[in-house]
Amino acid sequence: MTYREQIRKDRIPRHIAIIMDGNGRWAKARGKERFFGHQNGVLAVDKITVACVELGVEYLTLYAFSTENWNRPTAEVDFLMDLMSEAIKKYIEKACKNNVRLLVIGDMSRLTDKSRNNLNEAMRLTEKNDGLKLVIALSYSSRWEIVDAVKKIAEKAKSGELDPSQIDEDLVSNHLTTAGIPDPDLMIRTSGEYRISNFLMWQLSYSELYFTETLWPDFDEEELSKAIVDYQKRERRFGKTSEQISK
Ligand code: IPE
Ligand code: IPE
Ligand code: MG
Repeated sequence: MTYREQIRKDRIPRHIAIIMDGNGRWAKARGKERFFGHQNGVLAVDKITVACVELGVEYLTLYAFSTENWNRPTAEVDFLMDLMSEAIKKYIEKACKNNVRLLVIGDMSRLTDKSRNNLNEAMRLTEKNDGLKLVIALSYSSRWEIVDAVKKIAEKAKSGELDPSQIDEDLVSNHLTTAGIPDPDLMIRTSGEYRISNFLMWQLSYSELYFTETLWPDFDEEELSKAIVDYQKRERRFGKTSEQISK
């Protein structure tokens, strides 16, 4: 039986977040430049998005480019920026066909005007779609996001719009780039790296983590299904005892 067939339809994770890692190593293993890996990584994004639409996943968040990735060689950064904004532009039609809404989280101020315009246009043209929400984390890092939220909250406290005693978890959540998006149920990282790399550190507090050796361009529907089947076997306790959960 395939993993796809083993998935329980009544326990599909509502929000899946993925650290798409291993494009460079995938290309290197084929004697190719890193760029080739990134191009093939985009094809994997397409496949996984279709799979999530079919499975009825509500939110798919993909870590595409981190704040720290700005420190890569300029040629790679420029290539990635072009590749991503072009891929998103091309994807708009298909997104509408599949009722997918595109959202981008991250520090958009660091992008070129052209990239930013492409992304804003994609968000605008898909904003009425109420199927899968595809959230692209681009120029994103959790520490950047938290610092940004702290600044906004401090400004409100300073102007008197908010009293510090009103600051609670919900208020902090509502100042993050993911405001309104439920926390991920399942976080997947490909390529055999066992770290978070500055991704959704607040939001992943109670997510189930899944790591695979598979490199991102090879990650397909069956690999995704395997991760979901694994997730479905877990007991999410949120600090309680097993007995409390099974009641
Ligand atoms: C992930 O693949 C894509 C980005 C971080 C943009 P990498 O480019 O990190 O590939 P490896 O980890 O070097 O194999
Ligand atoms: C994490 O991958 C960021 C993205 C997938 C966008 P990296 O390849 O940048 O992570 P590190 O440097 O190995 O932690
Ligand atoms: Mg990497």
